[in-house]
Amino acid sequence: MASQFVARSLDEIRFWSRIMKEHALFLSLGFNFDDTKLIQEAQQYIDLFERIEQQLGQFTVNSDPQQIATFNNQVYQAAASIWAYKRKVLGLSLRCEIRSNNFPLLLDHTSREAAYFAERLKELNEGKLKPTPAKIIKENVFFLRIMADHSKFIGHLLDPSERKLVDQAREFSHDFDQLVFQATDLDSMRPQSETQPILDHFLDENRVSVVALRDFKKAARELIEECRIKSIIHPLLADHVFREAERFLHIIDMFEASLTSNK
Ligand SMILES: [Fe+2]
Ligand SMILES: [Fe+2]
Repeated sequence: MASQFVARSLDEIRFWSRIMKEHALFLSLGFNFDDTKLIQEAQQYIDLFERIEQQLGQFTVNSDPQQIATFNNQVYQAAASIWAYKRKVLGLSLRCEIRSNNFPLLLDHTSREAAYFAERLKELNEGKLKPTPAKIIKENVFFLRIMADHSKFIGHLLDPSERKLVDQAREFSHDFDQLVFQATDLDSMRPQSETQPILDHFLDENRVSVVALRDFKKAARELIEECRIKSIIHPLLADHVFREAERFLHIIDMFEASLTSNK
């Protein structure tokens, strides 16, 4: 149990610290060149999460759980802090106090990911290692919405002349919006909906769509890296959204395994 706590904590921090660092980079690239204070703040977050990644290197799965709990707390503070920064930028953007190339939905989206990261660390420190059926449904609602957002970002950042790809992105957006509603319905039917067959099917259906989107993102990433399509998508952003889809698939597998072990 203790070693599982350590391994899970390190895995969450490894994945999400890199994501947080990249968010700060994407935001900094989207600001106007004279918004120097916001760009500086973004750079501070890049440095902060880089330091966390370096600290991570000191730990292994055999590390002392107490030390890991302290590290989790420290990283929690960093995640909460970047969350507040993203919400501040969202406010500035919605009040038109800044003009930037970061969509408000992207700012909101990245803040939701920071909140998720912070919440995961809190739960780990509270000893919540095994997902409950309620948790499985809620995490799916969260990730399906993330996937729906990604499809929308891709559709809007591709060059408008890439009509076929824009159409495909729009179809994914529609598909995931439907899945979000479906998952929200299931959530409101709780706890009656928490039956094994219902949850199994729910995960299977979500997996099929996430695999398709993951493959689409992978193809897009290659096309962007090789400069074979027209877009304003940063190659690192293409890779970033691909990794988040892989993460969701990994989580679906973990949920499925935990349901099977309950049988
Ligand atoms: Fe992200
Ligand atoms: Fe994302």
